[in-house]
Amino acid sequence: MANRRLPDENGGPSMKHNELRIRLPDDPERIDQDSEYCLVQLDGSWQKIRFHDYHRIFAIPGLYEQLFHDILDCRSPDVVGKLLKEQIQRDNVVASSLRVLDLGAGNGLVGEQLRTVGAGTLVGVDIIPEARDAALRDRPEVYDAYHVADLTALSEQDSRTLAGYGFNTLSCVAALGYGDIPPAAFRAAYNLVSDGGWIAFTIKDRFLGDEDTSGFARLIKRCQEAGVLEVRSSERYRHRLNICGEPLYYVALVGVKHADIPAELVR
Ligand SMILES: C[S@@+](CC[C@H](N)C(=O)[O-])C[C@H]1O[C@@H](n2cnc3c(N)ncnc32)[C@H](O)[C@@H]1O
Repeated sequence: MANRRLPDENGGPSMKHNELRIRLPDDPERIDQDSEYCLVQLDGSWQKIRFHDYHRIFAIPGLYEQLFHDILDCRSPDVVGKLLKEQIQRDNVVASSLRVLDLGAGNGLVGEQLRTVGAGTLVGVDIIPEARDAALRDRPEVYDAYHVADLTALSEQDSRTLAGYGFNTLSCVAALGYGDIPPAAFRAAYNLVSDGGWIAFTIKDRFLGDEDTSGFARLIKRCQEAGVLEVRSSERYRHRLNICGEPLYYVALVGVKHADIPAELVR
């Protein structure tokens, strides 16, 4: 436990929700990122909640922020907001012209950051209704619209509705790989953005490396080689701490879309 410097219980700053009592596992060294969990005191008893059980996490007001941001010091929304802002300023793009599809929007922390950047239109998409409910509960002013949808199996109505927004920016933060958003869903969202639009996303560094099994390393490389995506800036950064208090590194990328991703690139 050499690197451990996490509180056993939540000692983070005050939230607008009531402070929750949160404990991390006693044996964190034996748990990998995909299996991480915490214990939360609810109605007098401690309940085990896996970090990837987003439907449970979002159903408890304040848990996502207290766990990932206060205790585990997540920085991803800030980092991607900063990189996108730098790139649009470099190109003299007015932030209010951004029409953003925020994929895997969760309870709206990325949307909140993009509002700070000045984005004009923001539409959230997530696969679980609990994320939408939490975003409307916690940040009702952030999104212009929020759709619960699986982008790999869109209804005709949802396809028309999403196409109708005329997106020129895609954001996707801390939601690729790990059984979350697969390459096919990323492709569907990417292809909803107009050519010349901005693509801003974060992904675990390992998913861009030679040993990647998520499919994203190959997809991003092939998109660049095919001239579909021009990466303008990328930054390896500390996404958050794991439950041992060790850093988890992600890469944030901001680029310009030049063409749709053809189906064969995700096969
Ligand atoms: C770690 S959370 C990130 C939320 C938000 N982007 C943030 O940074 O705070 C991952 C989100 O991706 C969503 N997600 C997982 N698989 C998805 C899919 N196939 N399509 C859309 N959203 C998905 C989850 O429901 C969850 O809200």
